[in-house]
Amino acid sequence: MIFGYAPEKIRKDFPALNKGIIYLDNACMTLKPLQVIDKMNEYYREYPSCGGRSSHAWAMKVEEQVAEARMRVQKFLNARSANEIIFTRNATESINLVARGLPLKEGDEIILSSKEHNSNLIPWLRLAKEKGIVLVVVPSNLDNTFSCEQLKRLITKRTKLVSIVHISNLDGVVNPVKEITFIAHKAGVPVLIDAAQSAPHMPLDVTKIGCDFLALSGHKMLGPTGTGVLYGTQGALARLIPLVSGGGTVISSTYTSFVEDKVPERFEAGLQDYAGIIGLGEACNYLKKIGLTTIEKHEQKLNCRVTEQLEKEPYLEIIGPKDYRQRSGIVSFNIRGLDPLNVARLLSSQNIAVRGGMHCVHSWFNEKRMKGSVRASFYLYNTEAEADTFVKAVKGLVQLRA
Ligand code: ALA
Repeated sequence: MIFGYAPEKIRKDFPALNKGIIYLDNACMTLKPLQVIDKMNEYYREYPSCGGRSSHAWAMKVEEQVAEARMRVQKFLNARSANEIIFTRNATESINLVARGLPLKEGDEIILSSKEHNSNLIPWLRLAKEKGIVLVVVPSNLDNTFSCEQLKRLITKRTKLVSIVHISNLDGVVNPVKEITFIAHKAGVPVLIDAAQSAPHMPLDVTKIGCDFLALSGHKMLGPTGTGVLYGTQGALARLIPLVSGGGTVISSTYTSFVEDKVPERFEAGLQDYAGIIGLGEACNYLKKIGLTTIEKHEQKLNCRVTEQLEKEPYLEIIGPKDYRQRSGIVSFNIRGLDPLNVARLLSSQNIAVRGGMHCVHSWFNEKRMKGSVRASFYLYNTEAEADTFVKAVKGLVQLRA
């Protein structure tokens, strides 16, 4: 069957697309459909009150809507229970919850890949400084893909967690998270998956992956800014010490003691971003309706189209594997002799939005003494015509260089 998804049909849902910008910075932040915007506005207009505390009608409606959003995220990830879903501000906060919540001590080892962005590096570097934990980095294969062989070699009795990105925001490479989890679990080590870049772009099934924790950001998957999720199995979450405590996290307190509430309430301190949470639930619904496999295929189609044209260009080098099928919806490249930030600015002057720089993966670029790269990242609303305009603009810049 010919793959027949037509992004033109859904573009009307995204008001920002009327601005005349070719938006290819989706790995950083995606646009929001009207369905999500309206759902958030509905909260502010119709029932703008708190959840989990008062018992008037508006408060009850908030509770009902938040519970619905939690269930939508649960289904989106195929988690076993809605109680395994904790709402946070973003994937970074979710990872911090784990880093700060595990009882780590001096000498404990945490394994990371060599392509973690700062969200999954800095929390651990801080713990290295404060507690003396040790970071172990798995070197990538020559084509920048993940090496399970190296992982097996590096797991020791001191390893307390394997914390790995699922899709790299640097080059789009998809890491074999199921195999990684299998290897880690065989050694009795829990696994955290940073799914900020995978949750929006491919079907995810935490039960199949088998991971203990998974972090994602709402803003990268059509959801509101300032929303995120930490998924954890019930066992893993029960062992985690909350990072922030206060209102909504306890059943009762005296002047000398308190009784903690159950999970997930224990982790959601203070009044929450109800509009954001409800909007995130709507985003999950929107993505599910279109289908994550459809989205994944569409992005690969665009990546194929762009890669086939750009790889022929002199002076242009794509980062990561040559095969576009290994780079999800991301093309990260450099034009020899041109500063990637300048390339991004020049493209912006032609109404094309990409990201130039280190994409928060300073460690990888600094080690290679590179200034960064130019990154185009596709999503469900991007068209082949947009991909072609982008290629034409890049070819124009290569000409400048030549
Ligand atoms: N991690 C985000 C990006 O890749 C901020 O742009």
